[in-house]
Amino acid sequence: MNQKTSTVFEEKAKVISHKEYADQQFVLTLKAPKSASKAKPGEFAFIDCGENHLLRRPLSYLRNNASNNTVEFMYKILGPGLEALSKLKQGDHVNLMGPIGNGFSLEDPVKQPVMIGGGVGIPPVLFLAEYLKQCNEACQPIAFFGSELPFPFALTQSNINIAGVKKENNTTIQSMEKLDIACRLSSFSNFEGCYPGYVTELADQWLRGLTKEEKGEVIIYACGPEPMLAATSKLAYSHGVDCKLSLEEFMACAIGGCAGCTVKVYLPEGEAMKRVCVDGPVFDAISIYPNESD
Ligand SMILES: Cc1cc2nc3c(=O)[nH]c(=O)nc-3n(C[C@H](O)[C@H](O)[C@H](O)COP(=O)(O)OP(=O)(O)OC[C@H]3O[C@@H](n4cnc5c(N)ncnc54)[C@H](O)[C@@H]3O)c2cc1C
Ligand code: FES
Repeated sequence: MNQKTSTVFEEKAKVISHKEYADQQFVLTLKAPKSASKAKPGEFAFIDCGENHLLRRPLSYLRNNASNNTVEFMYKILGPGLEALSKLKQGDHVNLMGPIGNGFSLEDPVKQPVMIGGGVGIPPVLFLAEYLKQCNEACQPIAFFGSELPFPFALTQSNINIAGVKKENNTTIQSMEKLDIACRLSSFSNFEGCYPGYVTELADQWLRGLTKEEKGEVIIYACGPEPMLAATSKLAYSHGVDCKLSLEEFMACAIGGCAGCTVKVYLPEGEAMKRVCVDGPVFDAISIYPNESD
């Protein structure tokens, strides 16, 4: 497990833009210099949703931009907290705590990174793909994202081939294409150019073309709904590739004090309870789903 300690900042951030997309999805850009200078992929912020909401809400960073002091988040309203957040207008202020969590381990440059993201689990893995590419031009991340709602990003047709994936499934996210990152989208909602199935099937199509040695170089990073994480874990196991999962749990404090976010993990030394907020949110897939060979 990736254990990391870093300073968590509290800051009053200014809303730079707040774009609404279909089905109550939003992309929020905040001027938050402390977060912007420190946030790494897989870390999250704990965001104040106003005085009527005692509990803050955790949101993963979608991007940071240290040169203009901004961070971005992508979210979908589930209940009253994010509903209140969605009312923020350009120029408003919001308190946030962050960056929190272990984030993805970035120590493995020899591996071939593969991102699998579903729905509101897309932000941390999209951030990771862009981050790795920007840090190292030679890195060739491959990303597969699935959503049943219209993707809250500008889309385009990709000119980057992904072996095993049909030519007609070539819709991608514009920001990924611009960075020369191979990316494909999946949905059962009949969106143009998207693979009509599960996002894990897209990843499987590509993995099937690799040799055993090539698979030894692959590492999957995933975030999304629980069934997608379970399927991803199974996929990774079946191909014999490493896999890291970013988990989501309901959080009350996000600083490790309340134990409200604990999950059971299976370690070589036995079972243990770990807090998703400070021990995670990123865990080895095998520690969450130890029986994926079944
Ligand atoms: C580390 C982390 C990163 C996250 N990143 C994002 C992100 O980038 N974008 C995004 O849209 N969402 C993200 N989430 C989920 C998001 O925090 C919750 O959806 C949000 O708190 C819901 O707030 P709400 O006010 O809309 O609904 P609430 O009223 O708080 O919740 C509505 C219902 O959803 C259930 N619920 C709420 N939170 C969770 C949860 N975390 N897990 C399971 N069930 C829950 C509750 O049972 C409740 O009944 C993240 C969660 C975690 C832990
Ligand atoms: S939310 Fe309190 S310990 Fe994690």
